[in-house]
Amino acid sequence: MTVYLTLLILVAGLIQGHCRPEGYKHKPLEEMSKEVSNYADIAQKIIELAMYGKAQNRSYERLAAFTDTIGHRLSGSKNLDLAIKYMYNALKQDGLENVHLEPVKVPHWVRGEESAVMLLPRNHTLSILGLGSSVGTPKGGIEAEVLVVESFDELKRRANEAKGKIVVYNQPFVSYSETVVYRTSGASEAARVGAVASLIRSITPFSIDSPHTGWQWYQPGVPQIPTACITVENAQMMARMARRGTRIVLQLTMGAKTLPDADSFNTVAEITGSEHPEQVVLLSGHLDSWDVGQGAMDDGGGVAISWEALSLVKDLGLRPKRTLRTVLWSAEEAGGVGAAQYYEQHKGNISNFDLVMESDLGTFAPIGLQFTGSDKARAIMKEVMKLLTPINVTSLEEHGEGTDIDMWMKSGVPGASLHTADSKYFWFHHSQGDTMTVQDPGEMNLCSAVWAVVAYVVADLDEMLPR
Ligand SMILES: *[C@@H]1O[C@H](CO)[C@@H](O)[C@H](O)[C@H]1NC(C)=O
Ligand SMILES: *[C@@H]1O[C@H](CO)[C@@H](O)[C@H](O)[C@H]1NC(C)=O
Ligand SMILES: *[C@@H]1O[C@H](CO)[C@@H](O)[C@H](O)[C@H]1NC(C)=O
Ligand SMILES: *[C@@H]1O[C@H](CO)[C@@H](O)[C@H](O)[C@H]1NC(C)=O
Ligand SMILES: [Zn+2]
Repeated sequence: MTVYLTLLILVAGLIQGHCRPEGYKHKPLEEMSKEVSNYADIAQKIIELAMYGKAQNRSYERLAAFTDTIGHRLSGSKNLDLAIKYMYNALKQDGLENVHLEPVKVPHWVRGEESAVMLLPRNHTLSILGLGSSVGTPKGGIEAEVLVVESFDELKRRANEAKGKIVVYNQPFVSYSETVVYRTSGASEAARVGAVASLIRSITPFSIDSPHTGWQWYQPGVPQIPTACITVENAQMMARMARRGTRIVLQLTMGAKTLPDADSFNTVAEITGSEHPEQVVLLSGHLDSWDVGQGAMDDGGGVAISWEALSLVKDLGLRPKRTLRTVLWSAEEAGGVGAAQYYEQHKGNISNFDLVMESDLGTFAPIGLQFTGSDKARAIMKEVMKLLTPINVTSLEEHGEGTDIDMWMKSGVPGASLHTADSKYFWFHHSQGDTMTVQDPGEMNLCSAVWAVVAYVVADLDEMLPR
């Protein structure tokens, strides 16, 4: 130990003996590291309860009961209302504290009847899913010739061919974050060059002819045209036909419309802190989903483990110094709408937010956490992750992720997201395939253990994570 460090520890020790004045220095890392390592026994107990004890498979069973009972739950839908009621009752029944609903206004887009039929070169029905916020077609639909493009660049080059056509995007899948721009902006880009509708190849690396929907945004000052996703198979087929010079004509009918914003809620449950109840470690997932499949993976899994983490802590009779707060967001799929309102409602207390966590990339076998925070906070989190050595989930990576916790991280609150073996996530994302069949009880046990250990230990440390 260097002289400097010894001095620092001495000074810190002296200050800690009294109240903590402005400019208080955090504990030196060596002391923090020792403090964290003292939680090894508790971490082991949480892991055992989740994996082998009476909580084995509980998060999976809860998620199955929930999604089998309610099904999918689109922003603004009656199903989302039912889901919120279900969770409110379930969290209360579980004996969690301060269970309550916080009102938010959410988008209310309805899909309506929709169909796409190829009339030329042959009669063929395409599976489609309208994109969230899309307008509908006029009654009787739109019948138009197709222009297939592989990229926005090609659309620009061929702008003079687009007028009056249905633009079909057959962009290759590179990665979700790079390719999703075709879904979010494809309609407006097509409208700019005079198209009457746009159909977007689903944003997925794998397909068995099922469309993957998602939200899209119209750009201001550009006509709003109907837009839907089509399957990889049909996009590729139309691209092949077009390359052979075959004329393609489609009939597109969509009954989509946007109703006035609906009343909804973020759903909250807590284990109140014993010493600093006003200080919070927040765990979260989003309760809304797309209106296909069961929303079991996106984001039922995140919801289930954020609930389960509190149950594990409660079942062991633990109560951390700070409050553990689970928030199940409303209307994430419509653009992080519930979480944005939560941020506005609570940012006045931002100095009391210790760590914000979100799981929204699947609850497959956990690998580690993605973390955003200062170097000092990262050093402490690395020590916390060592407590997960018994299940080999020790990796602490860069860049906490999650639409719903982003605002907090941008304002300096440390943030963590769950990183799992998610290579198949986008196979099922926003499609009929997002069902309980994707979930695995053993993997969910592991995710729950990671979530509970990290949240509990951070909430119980003597000090909040440094910013
Ligand atoms: C948990 O799920 C696994 C895998 O399906 C199964 O083998 C095990 O028996 C289940 N345990 C309980 C308590 O249901
Ligand atoms: C296309 O096929 C459908 C379903 O078989 C049929 O109802 C429809 O009349 C056909 N349309 C044309 C133009 O052949
Ligand atoms: C801010 O924190 C205080 C103390 O815990 C609490 O009474 C108050 O309700 C909080 N305000 C908001 C907007 O969360
Ligand atoms: C532990 O996890 C790492 C990283 O995910 C992996 O490469 C390694 O094979 C795992 N080791 C064991 C013993 O499972
Ligand atoms: Zn999601």
